[in-house]
Amino acid sequence: MPKVTVEELQRRKPQGGKITMLTAYDYPLGKLVDEAGVDIVLVGDSLGMVVLGYETTTPVTMEEMIHHAKAARRGVANALLIGDMPFLSFRGSLDEALTNARRFIQEAGCDGVKVEWKTGIEHTANAIIDAGIPVMGHVGLTPQTAASEGGFGMRGKDAAAASRIVAQALALEGAGCFAMVVECVPDLVAQEITRRLRIPTIGIGSGPWCDGQVLVTYDLIGLFERFTPRFVKRYAETAAIIRRAAASYVQDVKAGTFPGPEHTVAMPPQEAAKFKLNPQSKIHLMQ
Ligand code: KIV
Repeated sequence: MPKVTVEELQRRKPQGGKITMLTAYDYPLGKLVDEAGVDIVLVGDSLGMVVLGYETTTPVTMEEMIHHAKAARRGVANALLIGDMPFLSFRGSLDEALTNARRFIQEAGCDGVKVEWKTGIEHTANAIIDAGIPVMGHVGLTPQTAASEGGFGMRGKDAAAASRIVAQALALEGAGCFAMVVECVPDLVAQEITRRLRIPTIGIGSGPWCDGQVLVTYDLIGLFERFTPRFVKRYAETAAIIRRAAASYVQDVKAGTFPGPEHTVAMPPQEAAKFKLNPQSKIHLMQ
C-alpha cells in the first residue's frame, strides 16, 4: 500500500473520496488500524482519558504524548501519523508551541500535528506551518477547553454560534492548515464548513457531510467503558472479550489446567534421570 500523503488526501476532496481517521496510542493498535487501511492515525490526547485514566484530557503532558506517539510510530507504516498538541503545549509563547510541534516530528516521527481552536491560534498554527510542519485544525467541541466552556455538549446549535465556528474554520484554513476536524456540531453546520473550506473536513459527531470521519478507537472497539458518546458506532465488544479471557486464565491456573503439557518443555528422559540422581541438583537450582 502506498504511504498516505497530505497532498493525496487533499486531492480526494473534489472527487468525493472519503478520508478515514482513527486514534492509536501504542505499537499494537497503531499497527492494527494501519493494516486495516485507515488514512490517518491520530495520537489523540484522548490518550489521557481512554488509556491513562484521567477524567479529562487537560492533564496530558508533552512527555506522555511523545512517549505514546513514538510507540504508535513503530506500528504505523502507511497512514499519515498526526500528533495531538496537548493542552498548554501551544497556548503560551510561540517559541514553546514551535518547540513542542517540532518534538512530535523529530522525536516521535509524526508527519504533522493537530491543534484545537482558541482565539488567536491561527497565528500559532501559521508559525508551525511556516516551520515546515503540517497542521490539522480542530473546531466545534474542543475537549481541552470544554469544561470551561459549558461542558461536552454539541456546539453551534444556534445561528450565531454556528457562524462563529465557520469563521474559526476559515481562519485556520487561512493560516495554512491542511485539514480540519469538526467535532460535535449539527450536520447542517458541518455541511456548510465542508462546502466553504477547500481543505478536507473530518467529522466526529457531526453527521455524514464531512470529507472524512474520525472516532476514538477505544470507543469503536468497546474498550473504554466509562461512557460512550451517542455518535459512536461500536464495532466490537473488546472489554468483554478481555474480561472473559482473563477470567478463564484465572480459573485454569487455580484448577491446575494451565499450563498443560503443550505449554511445558520436558527434559530429555536420560538427562532427567541424571539430574534426579545428582545430589547437587537441588543446590544448583537454588543458586
Ligand atoms: O484526542 C482525540 O482523540 C481527538 C479526536 C477525538 C479527534 O481529538
